[in-house]
This record gives sequence, C-alpha cells and structure tokens, in this order.
Amino acid sequence: MLIRRAADILSSEITPPEIYRERRRFMQGMGALAAGAALGTAAEAEAGVRLAGVRASPYKLDDAKTPYKDVTSYNNFYEFGTGKSDPAENAGSLKTRPWTVAVEGEVRNPRLYDIDTLLKLAPLEERVYRMRCVEGWSMVIPWVGFSLRELIRRAEPTGDAKYVEFVTLHDPKQMPGQRARILDWPYVEGLRLDEAMHPLTLLAVGLYGEVLPNQNGAPVRLVVPWKYGFKSAKSIVKIRFVEKQPLTAWMAAAPQEYGFYSNVNPSVDHPRWSQAKERRIGEFFKRDTLMFNGYGAQVAQLYRGMDLKKFF
Ligand code: MTE
Repeated sequence: MLIRRAADILSSEITPPEIYRERRRFMQGMGALAAGAALGTAAEAEAGVRLAGVRASPYKLDDAKTPYKDVTSYNNFYEFGTGKSDPAENAGSLKTRPWTVAVEGEVRNPRLYDIDTLLKLAPLEERVYRMRCVEGWSMVIPWVGFSLRELIRRAEPTGDAKYVEFVTLHDPKQMPGQRARILDWPYVEGLRLDEAMHPLTLLAVGLYGEVLPNQNGAPVRLVVPWKYGFKSAKSIVKIRFVEKQPLTAWMAAAPQEYGFYSNVNPSVDHPRWSQAKERRIGEFFKRDTLMFNGYGAQVAQLYRGMDLKKFF
C-alpha cells in the first residue's frame, strides 16, 4: 500500500502506548463493575466483552486459527497510522458509543440505525474466514456477525441500486491518521450489489466470540473473504446504494495498483510485487495463494465471462 511520509504525522498526535494501556486497564475495571448492566452501555461495547447468543455456523475451516494476539496487534487501519502495530496502539481514541450507521441512497427503506439496534438485526454467527491482505500476508479469523444481505433485504434496494458504497467514520479528533493526507478521507469501499448480497459477505461486530477491538474496525465492519483485505472497510458509518461504481479510497490514491474488484488472484500481480504466494502469520514458509482466496466454489459464478486481468 502507500508508504507514510514520516513528516506527515506529528508524534504529539499519537497517544503514547503506555497512556493508552493505562486507560484501557481502568476502563476494563469499569467494565467488570458494570457487568449485568443493560446491553449497549459503553462498558458492554468494550473489546474483550463476550458477545451473547453467538451461534455456530457452517463456515468453518481446517486451517489453524491465527492467535487472538496477532489478529489484534498486526493489521492495517490507516486512520490510526500506517505501521502494523499503530492501530492497536492508537485506536483507543475511537469512541464506539454512541454510533449510528446510515443506510441510504437507492432504497425504499432508508434508515439510520443505532449500533445496538443493528447488532440485533439478525442472529450473530461465528464464521471462520481466511483473510488475505494485498501486501502478501494472511490470517484465519473467527469473526462474529451476520450476512450483510440481512440488512440489504430490509433496505429494499430499488432497480437503480447497482453498487453499494461503505464509508468509514471521518473524525480526525478520534482518528489521528486522518490529520495527514495519506488517503482522501473518509475511507470508502464498494461492492457490486450481487457481491454485497452474497451470503459470505459479512457485517462483523466481533471476533473470537468477543466485541470487536477498535483496531479491527469496531463497532461494525465489512468482511469480504474472497477479496484483498482493503475491501473490508472498518468502523462503518454509512452504507449507500448507488447506480454508478463508487470511487474507492484506494482507487483514488493509486488506480493503476488497486482496481474496483480486487479479488484475490494469484495470476494478477500487483504492479510492484507478485501475488502468487502469501505468508500466513505464524508460519515460516510461504504458501501458494488460492484463486478467490479459496472461495472459488462459492463466488466464481459472480464473475463468469469477465476478464479478471482487466477487471482486477
Ligand atoms: N478500513 C479502513 N477504514 N482503513 C484502513 O486502513 N485497511 C484495510 C482493511 N480495512 C483499512 C480498512 C486493509 S489494507 C486490511 S489488510 C484490513 O483492513 C486489515 O485489518 P483486519 O486484519 O482487522 O482485517
């Protein structure tokens, strides 16, 4: 992805990790005191709180799950810095309550969801998905959430809804990385409506049975396991149904490197590196990257007849 220019981010803009951890310890103590309080309080929304009523699902894998520590401390969330440990260190400044998600655009039922209403829209399931970052690393993550189609069905898209746009929160006060022009904020991603309706496409609110940590996109994020990780927008505040293909943040930043589809495809190289192999976090040897990240049986028909080198 893009390399951060050191001068773009002032060190004073970033909460020192020791202060962040201290604050977290304090808040976790508060969370324990508040146990038993109504769902939806700030304490209940804290990362690490177990999500109630999570069902098993058919989405399981034989692959070993990536340890919780790696899933939550090595990732990308440029709103909190471009280093792999920056999101875990800096995302404590994100406030996930109150939080609303606007569903709007070409739909018969536009709606502003309060996050705690959204959480109850459909039964929560655990789904173990392979995730592949465009940079060449991969993980196996037990997400908790429900299919995005549950929300889309209720929104009733009109005949003009061809694409769905996902917008991340834009608030440089909470997201220090947004004070630097690394991307044209807010972070925007998009899917074709049929991709968004695919049962694999998940609105995730947790991982490892617990509330999603901020660095992983709390309180709600997208997970599209057959596409490179950047399609899976975090900390979503808007889901917009549109007629024209959205201009995504990465297409705006580097159109020759990041296309709209971004399906995991070992035979289409990134202009600056091969995509044939990947490093599964925790493994020593690289493994072959699978077409559609191994989800071809479920999703290949979405792209029948398309030249996937052209529509990369
Ligand atoms: N969403 C936002 N808003 N900002 C980001 O920088 N990074 C993306 C994606 N979603 C990103 C984002 C990239 S490149 C990847 S690989 C995944 O988040 C990584 O996070 P995860 O391990 O929690 O899925």
